[in-house]
Amino acid sequence: MNRQTPESLYLDLLKKTLSFALWQEPPLPIEIGGFSRGAAMRSFTATLSRVFRKFNLQIVRDRPMTSDDRNDGKIWPGYAHTMIGMKRLDNLQLAVETCIKEGIEGDLIETGVWRGGACILMRAILAAHGVTDRRVFVADSFEGLPKPDANVASDQGDRHHEQDFLAVSQETVAEHFRKYGLLDEQVVFLKGWFKDTLPVAPIQKLAVMRLDGDMYASTMDALVSLYPKLQKGGFCIIDDFGAVRGCREAVADYRAQHKIEAPIHEIDWTGRYWRKE
Ligand SMILES: C[S@@+](CC[C@H](N)C(=O)[O-])C[C@H]1O[C@@H](n2cnc3c(N)ncnc32)[C@H](O)[C@@H]1O
Repeated sequence: MNRQTPESLYLDLLKKTLSFALWQEPPLPIEIGGFSRGAAMRSFTATLSRVFRKFNLQIVRDRPMTSDDRNDGKIWPGYAHTMIGMKRLDNLQLAVETCIKEGIEGDLIETGVWRGGACILMRAILAAHGVTDRRVFVADSFEGLPKPDANVASDQGDRHHEQDFLAVSQETVAEHFRKYGLLDEQVVFLKGWFKDTLPVAPIQKLAVMRLDGDMYASTMDALVSLYPKLQKGGFCIIDDFGAVRGCREAVADYRAQHKIEAPIHEIDWTGRYWRKE
């Protein structure tokens, strides 16, 4: 058995808290539960919900799922602060701790943070190991995904931008950091579309870049701006590789254009990473 230290115990508990793994997944209010597909039904259920709430009542939807579905980050969770599941949280911890141990220089970034849980874990790892000279960059529109760009073939038909569930404000994410006691000057928010914020981000070196923007353009924009700053031995983590074809294509295109041959490692059914050679 691995020796448990106060740091490892804290980080294990934090991962369970961030992913809501300690509690049963609650039913979702129907207006955010993806209950009704058509616009008319969506508007009807939203109105119905508003009426119910006036009487302190809620209409909720139970979602059948296994503990594997949650552990593997296959659901959009009701309360968790991250949707990436335990295996990808473990992988992120391994990446950050390896960089600290091996002295790989640079900051840490996630592009596509939703409620902020993965970034909170990165900040917590720095705190647990007393690291004060690295920052965590938290990059997001904080208003959900962009509409597909007409010039990006792989993103045509993508409907992520219709999902209000994926739009979490910067204030809410900052509040989540604050609740864990981890909001300070080592946390830097980059608010806006990746194509605008990442090329001018005040980042010199990166040790870990974690890309979780779902679409081709969101993945490619992050790779183009950030990969040149990733240090040798640094980790490039791709959340949506297995789940989203566009993301996979962006990774394949970028790696081919830049002749990157570092082996890609599997984290779980969707997550992948490689270390810069
Ligand atoms: C699947 S969620 C990220 C999940 C998160 N990493 C977690 O730990 O739960 C995708 C996020 O990417 C953001 N996003 C996607 N494409 C973007 C873009 N081009 N510019 C800015 N934000 C983007 C969305 O706003 C959303 O918060």
